[in-house]
Amino acid sequence: MSLVLAIESSCDETSAAVVSGRQVLSNIVATQIEMHQKWGGVVPEAAARAHVEAILPVIQEALSTAQVNLDQLDAIAVTNRPGLVGALSVGVTAAQALAFAHNKPLIGVDHLEGHLLAILSLPDELRFPCISLLVSGGHSELVLIREIGSYELLGQTRDDAAGEAYDKGARLLGLGYPGGKQISEQAVAGNPRRYDLPRGLAKERYDMSFSGLKTAVLRLVEAEGPKISVPDAAASLQAAINDALIKRLRNAVEDHDPASIALCGGVAANPDLRARVQKLAEQNGFPAYIPHFALCTDNAAMIGLAAVARLHGGTTSADRNLQVHPNSSLFS
Ligand code: KG4
Ligand code: ZN
Repeated sequence: MSLVLAIESSCDETSAAVVSGRQVLSNIVATQIEMHQKWGGVVPEAAARAHVEAILPVIQEALSTAQVNLDQLDAIAVTNRPGLVGALSVGVTAAQALAFAHNKPLIGVDHLEGHLLAILSLPDELRFPCISLLVSGGHSELVLIREIGSYELLGQTRDDAAGEAYDKGARLLGLGYPGGKQISEQAVAGNPRRYDLPRGLAKERYDMSFSGLKTAVLRLVEAEGPKISVPDAAASLQAAINDALIKRLRNAVEDHDPASIALCGGVAANPDLRARVQKLAEQNGFPAYIPHFALCTDNAAMIGLAAVARLHGGTTSADRNLQVHPNSSLFS
């Protein structure tokens, strides 16, 4: 059973985890969310500095929670692509130093492959091909996973990511940041048919667009003024985003006849979306893989799981001179 320490610092979470095979022994995340709230978004320089402060304590906590010491490890894994260059460099430099000092192989992992392979944490025997919907604050991608290591991008957003649409809609409705959680909580008591919001690129089978939604919510807020029903607006926004996502997933299922579907990324926390993905799987008689929420948002355990899969596939090099690739794509 491969024992791996994994490090993730591609954006605004500093994370370290220890995984043993498909078992997650620890998964520590230090978030910078409060700092970025103050600035109104992620400031790359500030993010990098915060990673420098957090990285060693986070690694130490991951090792001590897992009760593992560095010499027991089979490898060290780190996100080296894509992401903010300064942020990525902090994690990669820490991983290089540890790998060099303890003479361990170093595995560079693509952040998106990490999100997709968070499903390895589930106890299920995974069935491929799998169509995965990867939805977060930075991503909305529909991916055909033929097998581990073979990914085809079927479709993606042309503008805002699904999580961004939740966050921007929430801000316009006067709810806090990050907005997805607030929207889904408000939506429980709301009527999703009360306000008519657009479903962008309705004719596209796989690609999506969410930028029209924020304009529509802005107009709605202006038109309704103080008499707006926030629960109804939240439910209508949630319905518009999730309808668009589920429609693309259903199209991909029709076209590719997969053995399973999956949902990952921070927006996978949305209860309505989870239920609809589950229902689509039941209708088709195949499983839906939805990792635990802690493994859906940015975290190092998913990077460790992807690295273990790589180790088991036998494709790892002992080259510790790992490069950072801020703009690399898993699909090219
Ligand atoms: O994966 P993640 O933690 O960070 C990155 O974007 O990389 O995803 C965060 C996104 C945010 O946009 C947040 O609003 C959204 O996930 N989110 C939700 C919910 N919880 C978090 N969106 C909809 N419903 C939720 N319950
Ligand atoms: Zn992410």
